[in-house]
Amino acid sequence: MKTAAEVLNELAQGIRSCTLCPLHLHRKLAVPGEGPADAKVMLIGEAPGYHEDQQGRPFVGPAGRFLTELLARAGFRREDVFITNVVKCRPPNNRDPAPGEIRTCTSAWLERQIEAINPEVIITLGRYSMALFLPNQSITKVHGQPHQVNGRVIVPMFHPAAALHQERFKEPLLKDFEKLPQILAELRRQPPAADTRPQQLSLF
Ligand code: URA
Ligand code: SF4
Repeated sequence: MKTAAEVLNELAQGIRSCTLCPLHLHRKLAVPGEGPADAKVMLIGEAPGYHEDQQGRPFVGPAGRFLTELLARAGFRREDVFITNVVKCRPPNNRDPAPGEIRTCTSAWLERQIEAINPEVIITLGRYSMALFLPNQSITKVHGQPHQVNGRVIVPMFHPAAALHQERFKEPLLKDFEKLPQILAELRRQPPAADTRPQQLSLF
């Protein structure tokens, strides 16, 4: 039986050389994600941007600096959480990832990363990430609220880049992160029933 860290390393290697969707044609470096294999909190952004593509690491540009600040508000260091994205390669000119690219990439990689890490909480950052778990929700309505989906706990949040560009998202995003310790404490008192957790995650 492989350890979670071994599985994650294998997935990261696979991601770095992946050619399953057209996004591989435009990338400099694929961005598998990073963090401890036993992270309690997993964050899922949208897609690598310019800086991430250059460095092969998630959230290393301005949005990443803000994310580090948000995590500090919740009492976490960046190294304590696992950070990744819906798609692992930068879409050209930062266009939105296409539905087919999202399907291909998440079923090949993200679903297996989630299974390996088995986090207590998944924080989705932005609409694309939220839509994997809560396809019919409006982020303005449900941000900051924990949702149980297939035995997993999802907390949808605004995207930090959106908050950097639009002041009105900033305060709610800071508040949502400040609530995170409370959400985790509540979950530990009353964990979701283990037997509702499917062996095979199906996001779609
Ligand atoms: N925005 C994202 O969604 N992901 C990153 O890794 C960086 C910026
Ligand atoms: Fe592979 Fe995902 Fe990159 Fe597409 S975006 S090439 S599926 S790693």
